[in-house]
Amino acid sequence: MADFYLDIANSGLGKKVFSALGLPEPVALTRENTQTPHRLSGRVLLGCSQQGYFVDNIADLLKGSGVEVARDSVEGAGHLIFDASGISTAAESTQLYAFFHQHIKLLPTCGRVVVVGLDPNCVASADHAALQRGLYGFVKSLAKEIGRKGATANLLLVDPASEGAIAAPLRFLLSAGSAFMNAQILTAAPPVASLRAAWLRPLLDKTVVVTGAARGIGLAIAEVLTRDGACVIGVDVPQAEEELTAHMGRLNGHALALDITSEGAAAVLRDYCLTKGPSLHGIVHNAGITRDKMLSRMSEQQWAMLMQVNLGGVQRINEALLATDLLDDGGKIVGVASISGIAGNIGQTNYGFSKAAVIGMVENLAESCAARGITINAVAPGFIETQMTAAIPFATRQMGRRLSSLGQGGLPVDVAEVIGFFVSPQAAGINGNVVRVCGQSLLGA
Ligand code: NAI
Repeated sequence: MADFYLDIANSGLGKKVFSALGLPEPVALTRENTQTPHRLSGRVLLGCSQQGYFVDNIADLLKGSGVEVARDSVEGAGHLIFDASGISTAAESTQLYAFFHQHIKLLPTCGRVVVVGLDPNCVASADHAALQRGLYGFVKSLAKEIGRKGATANLLLVDPASEGAIAAPLRFLLSAGSAFMNAQILTAAPPVASLRAAWLRPLLDKTVVVTGAARGIGLAIAEVLTRDGACVIGVDVPQAEEELTAHMGRLNGHALALDITSEGAAAVLRDYCLTKGPSLHGIVHNAGITRDKMLSRMSEQQWAMLMQVNLGGVQRINEALLATDLLDDGGKIVGVASISGIAGNIGQTNYGFSKAAVIGMVENLAESCAARGITINAVAPGFIETQMTAAIPFATRQMGRRLSSLGQGGLPVDVAEVIGFFVSPQAAGINGNVVRVCGQSLLGA
């Protein structure tokens, strides 16, 4: 759906008028080029705290990525990376201040800030862990300061035993694919499976199931995964079979008309996957519905039906797939939650419950999945321009769009890119993460 405010704000005349009236002027975000995705370019200024653990590794891992890493010359720097892992006292935190105080003004439109720290759970000293936890507040605040430039700031927390695993999150956070992921914390742990894959076509020869693939975010996920080399099995309700078949035909994928809440649906999907080969690379649980009503007026049917689509169907499918070895050794499970499951939302007690439970599913399955070489993660989208949000009343819709640091709603492709990253083999060290894709929405931030 078109955001006319954003279009006008970025037109020649609109810029002048909006500026004169003091209206917010959201920047048109740079997104991946559909023909040449995953190509990084430009210059990164790489800074480091004293005794930073990762700085040399970061410089090495970015070699050959397309970005030029500069350690001292600031000229032309489009992105800033700071290894803050060595900061273990209040006094040492000045090193973080000094780097960004000096360089933040250099950040261009749609530039990237990535702060790298130690996962506080992996730090023996309580003081060191506390200072690393402080990076959350720093990154979230900095993101609010640079959002009006369309720039983002994210934090990558690393288990020291997982150094090779940080190449994928670093590249993703520097890429145009992370345009709407802002003020988030990713944690990287030792990889649960092989990291090997081609950077430009990471999903070549991989099959991935996407539920709710006939339209909206699910269709965008199917398109991004296909672009990255995957063969997509798109699932949607029988009523959407025509669109689903047309889209999957265009993407050289497979269409499976299946209501995920129907009797035996999980077994039908599992058996369908088994006919496509001995292994399945991943499943993206995107299908979801809203049934908004104030709790006092919500019918039991509205509660129960939503819970079966957003949660019950997802759990039964996971159970059926995990009862086989289809996903073992490199498989990926991705849930689609929502910021309503984090912040809550009026009229969405049912939806908020179901989406918070999706987050719980990720947190609680992460360890057992890792033991089998599988990762499980989730995205929590904020305001995304789809038919679901087009149905929101005009004034609320405008508020939803503007109330984020980037001042705009996201596009389905923004959610799809983060999922593409989770599903890529190189992200085998990213497990149990829940990432908001919301442009740093002020809701529940
Ligand atoms: P949408 O309504 O445009 O698409 C959802 C798709 O799921 C439809 O094709 C629908 O037919 C399918 N579906 C529904 N019930 C199904 C069932 N029982 N079995 C199989 N397929 C079924 O929704 P949208 O906006 O693309 O949302 C996709 C996901 O993202 C949902 O889980 C939603 O909760 C989540 N989300 C969306 C946000 C937004 O701003 N649009 C924000 C936060 C989360």
